[in-house]
Amino acid sequence: MDGRTADSALITTYRGTRGPVTPVWFMRQAGRSLPEYRALRVGNQMLDACLDPELSSEITLQPVRRHGVDSAIFFSDIVIPLKLAGVDVDIVPGRGPVLGKPIRTAADVAALPHLPAGALSAVSAGVARTVEQLGKTPLIGFAGAPFTLAAYLVEGGPSKEHLSARTLMHADPETWHALLNWAADVTGAFLRAQVLAGASAAQLFDSWVGSLSLADYTSHVAAYSKRALDAVADLDVPKVHFGVGSGEVLPAMQAIGADVMGVDWRIPLAEANRRLGGTVPLQGNIDPAMLAAPWPVLEAHVLDVLESGQAAPAHVLNLGHGVPPDTDPDQLTRIVDLVHSR
Ligand code: CP3
Repeated sequence: MDGRTADSALITTYRGTRGPVTPVWFMRQAGRSLPEYRALRVGNQMLDACLDPELSSEITLQPVRRHGVDSAIFFSDIVIPLKLAGVDVDIVPGRGPVLGKPIRTAADVAALPHLPAGALSAVSAGVARTVEQLGKTPLIGFAGAPFTLAAYLVEGGPSKEHLSARTLMHADPETWHALLNWAADVTGAFLRAQVLAGASAAQLFDSWVGSLSLADYTSHVAAYSKRALDAVADLDVPKVHFGVGSGEVLPAMQAIGADVMGVDWRIPLAEANRRLGGTVPLQGNIDPAMLAAPWPVLEAHVLDVLESGQAAPAHVLNLGHGVPPDTDPDQLTRIVDLVHSR
């Protein structure tokens, strides 16, 4: 908001202007693919690491130093604001977020705690420390979308098809409404805290949106995602919206007020652009499976993605979902060098 990163490749591209080079960063670029991350994480719990401003800042900077990506994304997790509100949630290695007790009834929802004043101070401190060191390189702040958070809260942990959550939205729409409003406010506050502390863009992750029909998305989900994104509506930062398996719902996801759409690997960028009516910059969409392929195979795929991205008003290169933990980090560095050399 102070203009420090306004001329960066990422921010100008998010604002719709194509520059001489395509900016590139990777979802989940900070994490287990990096030996320097694994070294820092010895002896601490994931959520504790996220809430240690020195550690979260250092981990955020690692992929910027190593790969020369055009942006950092704050090292945290979508469940951090739930934890800070007082929800009994933990991250189980190799599994993901797990709740002490699933949230399923009207009484469970009514008992959900609100974020106490000052609860996000460790997040703000971590972001402030990070942007100070990043200088002109932008930091992306992020948050989980209410549906993806609800999928964890209602199921009590990771699930494939989010059946209990999707049952609840129809079986008890009032409880669903209260739960998603709660999630939107908590996650919106998390996003806002990051932007106020210096993040230059805001990305909403609706990772599990692909399990929804378009009808369910528009009638039971979109309004709450809008409420979450509206938490930063008065702040002058580009807003990115990303989902996995989002082909059917892309235009509806954009319509809640996104400036940039993240696209997963299932549809070419040119097709995503067609579905969106050519209206917004796109971000994506290297197939994460290709990261383990020999370089010539991956290189050809990256060039294909760049070519397809030419159809959109502007393009930020990324993956179609997060970096798999067993990825050889040199593959990521090679992608950055390739994209920057063109
Ligand atoms: O570099 C970055 O992208 C920033 C860090 C980041 C993490 N989580 C760190 C993390 C971000 C943006 C997230 C968001 C997140 N967390 C999402 C949305 C993005 C997506 O990938 O769809 C989701 C669905 C979660 C929930 C979650 N947290 C999962 C599914 C897992 C993986 C569980 C596992 O161990 O396989 C986590 C844990 C997590 N979040 C790790 C990291 C680096 C791994 C924990 C570890 O290192 O032990």
